[in-house]
Amino acid sequence: MATLDLGVLISGRGSNLLSILHAEGASRLDARVRVVISNRPEAGGLVHAKARNVPTRVLPHSDFASREAYDEALVGALREAGVSHVVLAGFMRIVTPVLLNAFPDRVINIHPSLLPAFPGIHSQAKALAYGVKVSGCTVHFVDAGTDTGPVLAQSAVQVRHDDTEETLSARILAAEHALLPRALQWIAEDRVTIVPGEAGGRARVLVREE
Ligand code: GRF
Repeated sequence: MATLDLGVLISGRGSNLLSILHAEGASRLDARVRVVISNRPEAGGLVHAKARNVPTRVLPHSDFASREAYDEALVGALREAGVSHVVLAGFMRIVTPVLLNAFPDRVINIHPSLLPAFPGIHSQAKALAYGVKVSGCTVHFVDAGTDTGPVLAQSAVQVRHDDTEETLSARILAAEHALLPRALQWIAEDRVTIVPGEAGGRARVLVREE
């Protein structure tokens, strides 16, 4: 079993960051959050990190001329903090191969839909508009596409007839908070293998039973 050295990237409220910190504190997750990096100085998640003495960095994307230059700076900050795995926890930026190649198969995202349905932004509103009866959340490894990487874990949430974007988002968020630390713990327990697809097929994730 390895202790994961996590770098958590955020842009906003940071409730998924908090779920990681809670799981770490409750010994449900063998991980140390080494650094929290936000592209927005006003991100609420920075307050959660500071309150727990977790190092924080603010890297405003507007300070950089290109996505690649931004990701170079991210990689530098993550390496400086001794990070082994990167978690995108509400990080509202598209990442480039600069980050992905620096942490191959070690960048993980949480997304509020059952991928491949409703990638990108406003997934909960899209699910309601489509009329699906089940939605949920997905933890996946990040590849060069938008929410297209190999799926590590999913959790389903019923859509109710009277759901609004807010009520559905809140129930999905509760599922996210349970799923993300659990999926990270599988990685810490060395139970996760990414199996390359044959003949151009999709890579898949195998999770060994306990
Ligand atoms: C979550 O719904 C996550 O799935 C999505 O962005 C939201 C972040 O929420 N990628 P929080 O900042 O973790 O509270």
